[in-house]
Amino acid sequence: MPIIRKEYYEDYEAVREVHRKAFGRDIEPNLVISLRNTDRMLLSLIAENSRSIAGHILFTTATVDGSNIRLATLGPLAVRPDQQHHGIGTLLAREGINICRELGIPAVVVLGEPRFYYRCGFKSASNFGLFPSWQGIPDEAFMALELVPDALKSCQGIVRFAPQFDLAMPADQGL
Ligand SMILES: CC(C)(COP(=O)(O)OP(=O)(O)OC[C@H]1O[C@@H](n2cnc3c(N)ncnc32)[C@H](O)[C@@H]1OP(=O)(O)O)[C@@H](O)C(=O)NCCC(=O)NCCS
Repeated sequence: MPIIRKEYYEDYEAVREVHRKAFGRDIEPNLVISLRNTDRMLLSLIAENSRSIAGHILFTTATVDGSNIRLATLGPLAVRPDQQHHGIGTLLAREGINICRELGIPAVVVLGEPRFYYRCGFKSASNFGLFPSWQGIPDEAFMALELVPDALKSCQGIVRFAPQFDLAMPADQGL
């Protein structure tokens, strides 16, 4: 299995290629670039296999309207196509979630493929009374995971991702 480590400046170009190849477009690599070095950045991890970068995951912060809570947003997440289906995406997600827990983040939200994220313990965010700020997102595609028991009990409403996501979103909901 690859090692999971923090992303460094020297990794940026390879990380861009991982996202470009995995998503087959520039939206996600550009989103990663636009989120780096902002005050919303929480965590950027890579999976390194034989000195090459097999995958990358980013965590940024999100807020909930009417609440002071600060959540983590998971994504974008990408694994190089020739390295997929070997558990690397799951490893990156789980390691990132563990670090978020250590950082005291109460919960993580994600917009993505439920069949992948349910494996990591996510549930539809509407179960917690949380909803995305974008129109037309299928209920099951917007998910949440409590890292502290009942952390989401007293906070319900619209989740605001970093504004950079808004630019990436309108044409596509598949981040
Ligand atoms: C999604 C992604 C990160 C998963 O990485 P991975 O290393 O292949 O994931 P793992 O090996 O840990 O887990 C694979 C399992 O997750 C599930 N899964 C992964 N991608 C899926 C998808 N698009 N739809 C449904 N289930 C999916 C399947 O159950 C799969 O099991 P399988 O390998 O037996 O088919 C990777 O496929 C990828 O980069 N995809 C393109 C970019 C993308 O869509 N990223 C956002 C995810 S919402």
